[in-house]
Amino acid sequence: MRGSKRGSLVFEWKTTFKNVVVLTGAGISAESGVATFRDNGGLWAEHRIEDVATPDAFAMNPVLVQDFYNKRRAQLKEVEPNAGHRALTRLQQELDGNVTIITQNVDDLHERSGSHDIIHMHGELRKVRCRACATVHQWQEDCFQETACPTCGRQVVLRPHIVWFGEMPFYMDLITQKLQVCDLFISVGTSGNVYPAAGFVTHVQQVGHAHTIEINLESSEGVSYFAEARHGRAGDLLPALIDEILSVKVA
Ligand code: OAD
Repeated sequence: MRGSKRGSLVFEWKTTFKNVVVLTGAGISAESGVATFRDNGGLWAEHRIEDVATPDAFAMNPVLVQDFYNKRRAQLKEVEPNAGHRALTRLQQELDGNVTIITQNVDDLHERSGSHDIIHMHGELRKVRCRACATVHQWQEDCFQETACPTCGRQVVLRPHIVWFGEMPFYMDLITQKLQVCDLFISVGTSGNVYPAAGFVTHVQQVGHAHTIEINLESSEGVSYFAEARHGRAGDLLPALIDEILSVKVA
């Protein structure tokens, strides 16, 4: 049995967890060299959201928007999964239960670490979508306005398969199902600024049968909603947490 502590609150882990949901954000990929959004020097300090991350931005200046995502897609070739991603992969491999990763990240570092059951609620950099025939294509290289859709052959139809501000995140029904049944909810590397993801912890708390843990470099906006918080680098804290979870034995 393990105890964990935040302030005066001590949670005794008396049971193994059967349905774990892990919400990840940009902080888990920071140690791989992927820029976060809201830290000093983050993407939203360098670019205005309304210039590159809304449907209106794409309508107004598609070349700029494609270029922004082309650069980020190209950067994926330079980065590798880190100890935080690998710890979650180990949890999936060794826990006698279900582990779902809901990620706000559009990189593919969870996949490359060997994880499965990954829900990309904000889309994926290595995919583009045809606005004419709706086909989603795997995409490793740059995408331009004149690039033809491999399925329907039309030009000026491909867009990044990214959820922009003002658009509905993907897989919300599936996410709700996972949150309803989870018995452990871990949030890693997210500032808690963007809904609906920022509201998942309160959803889980209202359902009422899960322990909730935040792992982040610093307190997130929603830290007070978590039963437990551990602050530091995900690459250090996640492997330690996963060791604790996997070491729990039911008598
Ligand atoms: P943010 O950039 O808002 O927050 C990243 C969080 O990670 C911050 O709270 C950092 O303190 C923390 N962090 C940084 N390095 C860390 C490390 N090594 N270990 C642990 N934590 C670390 O990124 P998100 O919360 O993911 O959406 O942003 C959410 C969404 O806002 C994104 O998916 C994106 C953005 O606008 C869209 O583009 C739709």
